[in-house]
Amino acid sequence: MPLIRVVKVTKSFREESLPVTALDSVSIEVEEGAFLAVCGPSGSGKTTLLNLIGCLDKPTSGNIYLEDDEISALGQKELTDFRLRKIGFIFQDYNLIPTFTAIENVEYVLWLQGVAPRERRRLALEVCERFGVAALAFRRPWQLSRGQQQRIAVARAVVHRPRLVLGDELTANLDHKTGQELMAFLKELNKEEGVTFLYATHDPVMMGYADKIIRLYDGRILE
Ligand SMILES: Nc1ncnc2c1ncn2[C@@H]1O[C@H](COP(=O)(O)OP(=O)(O)OP(=O)(O)O)[C@@H](O)[C@H]1O
Ligand SMILES: [Mg+2]
Repeated sequence: MPLIRVVKVTKSFREESLPVTALDSVSIEVEEGAFLAVCGPSGSGKTTLLNLIGCLDKPTSGNIYLEDDEISALGQKELTDFRLRKIGFIFQDYNLIPTFTAIENVEYVLWLQGVAPRERRRLALEVCERFGVAALAFRRPWQLSRGQQQRIAVARAVVHRPRLVLGDELTANLDHKTGQELMAFLKELNKEEGVTFLYATHDPVMMGYADKIIRLYDGRILE
């Protein structure tokens, strides 16, 4: 059974009085352990698709399943709980909490999950070590380079061992070398631990890391 099934999903937004169809009857299946890129021009619906799969928003019509659960049928609170347990999200602009140290940012999801302080710290340090940022654990985000911030953001996205990690233009603000290092890290995690990755990108180099590519155009899948 696929990890994710998106079945005839349409998402419309209302901009003033004009409706915008961001996704138009999109169907995809993602196998567990996939490393999958979502590509397409600006405005083609990449972010919209990731947000729906990531439980950040709900479709206008259609169904989305993560394993046996229909996430498109969940209420707001259930969506949040679900996301907390099963999904990691890496944003383009990192979204680190500026008043927290790096390690507190990484621990935050575990705190929300009610993990005890010592265990939280242990798990967070372990994942920071893995990403080569343990030495930066007690700095604030503004004391870190972009590449370092993004690694912390990746550590935060995987610290609770989610089944699925979503990345939206996760290397867009990084120079090529740092971006490629980051992708290599993620690929390693994918290979070693079977974490499923789904990431949106414009960048042909980043597409090169994918096992499979989904192409969107005007809210539809190009075959
Ligand atoms: N909250 C919103 N309200 C109104 N329209 C929206 C909203 N979010 C997205 N859209 C519209 O939906 C369409 C798809 O947007 P989306 O952000 O998914 O594209 P994208 O492929 O991620 O583009 P980019 O590569 O620029 O990030 C666009 O026409 C966009 O203007
Ligand atoms: Mg986008």
